[in-house]
Amino acid sequence: LRHLLGIEGLSPLDITLLLDRANEYVELNRSVGGKLDTLSGRTVINLFFESSTRTRTSFELAGKRLGADVINMSVSTSSIKKGETLIDTAMTLNAMHPDVLVVRHGSSGAVKLLSEKVNCAVINAGDGSHEHPTQALLDALTIRRRKGRIDGLQVAICGDILHSRVARSNIHLLNVMGARVRLIAPKTLLPAQAERLGTEVFYDMKAGLKDCDIVMMLRLQTERMQSNFFPTVREYYHFFGLDYTKLEAAKPDALIMHPGPMNRGVEIASDVADDIGRSAIREQVEMGVGVRMACLEVLSLNLAAERPVADPNDS
Ligand code: CP
Repeated sequence: LRHLLGIEGLSPLDITLLLDRANEYVELNRSVGGKLDTLSGRTVINLFFESSTRTRTSFELAGKRLGADVINMSVSTSSIKKGETLIDTAMTLNAMHPDVLVVRHGSSGAVKLLSEKVNCAVINAGDGSHEHPTQALLDALTIRRRKGRIDGLQVAICGDILHSRVARSNIHLLNVMGARVRLIAPKTLLPAQAERLGTEVFYDMKAGLKDCDIVMMLRLQTERMQSNFFPTVREYYHFFGLDYTKLEAAKPDALIMHPGPMNRGVEIASDVADDIGRSAIREQVEMGVGVRMACLEVLSLNLAAERPVADPNDS
């Protein structure tokens, strides 16, 4: 792996190796914590053009726990505000020789474009409605730890599929790892030809959730919507919000997941989200640190293997 731009194109072995390493880091963080020197002397730059709580913080924490120097670029106080383009910004940062650029951008494909202009490793921290690969990896790790496997599980992804990079990355990952994926949403929140994504499509929560092992809820991404997706948010919650009544259709031990940020009372009821036995939402956040440590480590070490070794005597 040179860059991590998406789950699409990763093999089951690539995914398994990343999850295994991430799992080791989760255990290490739980037991001893503290700082390692795996990435000592390496530099990670977080470049987020869209807001983030979980992804940005966990990349920062992951880099620091591995001993890297981590720089958070604030777009609002950068020269982007003076009109500098994405590519000029990337090339400017690249000239400072970082090892990894972690990039979130509002446009699908922007992170790939940027990766073609720099000679460091690039991690996609979410691009438009395209992909959010580290989210899918942390979701997979959460599922694997709770259920012992991914293969053969019935997973329902519910809500705003149309605008969701989380859904797209999860669909790729779950399909390639042998899970069966259902999408549940109103027609207005499904991509055209959703059936072609290798999933089953449902327009009704009760039918779609029947006998599911995993219920993955999504936030309504109103910031990406141009027209009304549903008559009202109240009606959306009535038909598609996850509450205990709808959850009865799933298996009794079905795991409840949400990538966050959550809108309580819109896509999920508060008591369901906070259900200590069944909700894995906080655990997903914890897995995020381990997954990002594994990704930073693998990409940094792959890059180091490619780069010529500097001779300190060369002038
Ligand atoms: N799940 C996720 O990407 O959350 P943030 O937007 O807070 O990073």
